[in-house]
Amino acid sequence: VLLYLVVIAGGVVRMTGSGMGCPDWPKCFDHYIPPFSEADLPADYRQRLDTGHGNVEFNVAKAWIEYVNRLVSVIAGFAMLAFVWSGFRLRRWAGGTPLFVLTLTALALLLFEAWLGKRVVETNLRVGTITIHMLVAVVLVCVVLLAVMRTRTDSAKLVGTSSQKLLITTLLIAAVVQVGLGTQVREAIDTISNHLANPNRGEWVSQAGIVFIIHRTLSWGLLLGSASFVWMTRSSVGELRTWARVSFALVLAAALLGIVLQNFDMPAFAQPLHLLAGTLLVGAFFATACTLWPTSSLHPRSTLKLATV
Ligand code: HEM
Repeated sequence: VLLYLVVIAGGVVRMTGSGMGCPDWPKCFDHYIPPFSEADLPADYRQRLDTGHGNVEFNVAKAWIEYVNRLVSVIAGFAMLAFVWSGFRLRRWAGGTPLFVLTLTALALLLFEAWLGKRVVETNLRVGTITIHMLVAVVLVCVVLLAVMRTRTDSAKLVGTSSQKLLITTLLIAAVVQVGLGTQVREAIDTISNHLANPNRGEWVSQAGIVFIIHRTLSWGLLLGSASFVWMTRSSVGELRTWARVSFALVLAAALLGIVLQNFDMPAFAQPLHLLAGTLLVGAFFATACTLWPTSSLHPRSTLKLATV
């Protein structure tokens, strides 16, 4: 949940253009808690904080948006440490270290992601870095989900059919590709809106080129594929059917928000929502897949050990 909050917070920062809301780090306008008015700032703050990378004008809304974004990220960082600790505590249950290794991998990915985020800003949103940043984020979400699913004790009963497994694997790969393509579209739109100084939002999408066309077309594949998966799992019991439906609803939501972006001059509110639906979708497909390959669950040994105790 915290990882997705970081995604939303990042989307809102971009939507409102608050990336430079706090020109300094870790403080914000030299305060640990951003001030509510310019009167509370030191008189010489412009000279003191000017690093030459952007403007240091104080805007209370942007400062607070950026500050909340940092706060959510820090909380997610601490939660990740607690997650690693719980993985360490549970390692004996699994009769080995895989769970601990998964939580450590998640921590390593989070640190890598933070470093990548820094590079994205340093290279002034260089083409390609945002896409890599996004793909690492979805891999991180999947690793966390995998670790969480492994601690479940009730998912070990279901084993999916091979056609279900094939379809969900294809959908998962397609969703990751779709997120990568979407981020490429976003990079193109950033270039169009910033570098070409084109204020007409209605024209942004039409100038995004072939990547946008592929992105839009692939949605049909995802819609049809996930609708077929809902059909295939209609008589399954429990979690599989629910995850299949949730995934379909998320594909629909992402596609509808994409249509809103295309046809209503890229309304700012739809940008973080579209991003959220897209990244949630990858998580939902991954969780669906986990319910079909339940053998990696901690269930047999942990239950046995608990029973022995
Ligand atoms: C399952 C379907 C879809 C998924 C999973 C998806 C996912 C994404 C993602 C992750 C981004 C990057 C957002 C960001 O970095 O802020 C994106 C961008 C974008 N997508 Fe999609 N998308 C889907 C369908 C569509 C459709 C059907 C359209 C248009 C008809 C569309 C139009 C766009 C546009 C215009 C952007 C750039 C948004 C921006 O610059 O903020 N998408 N998409």
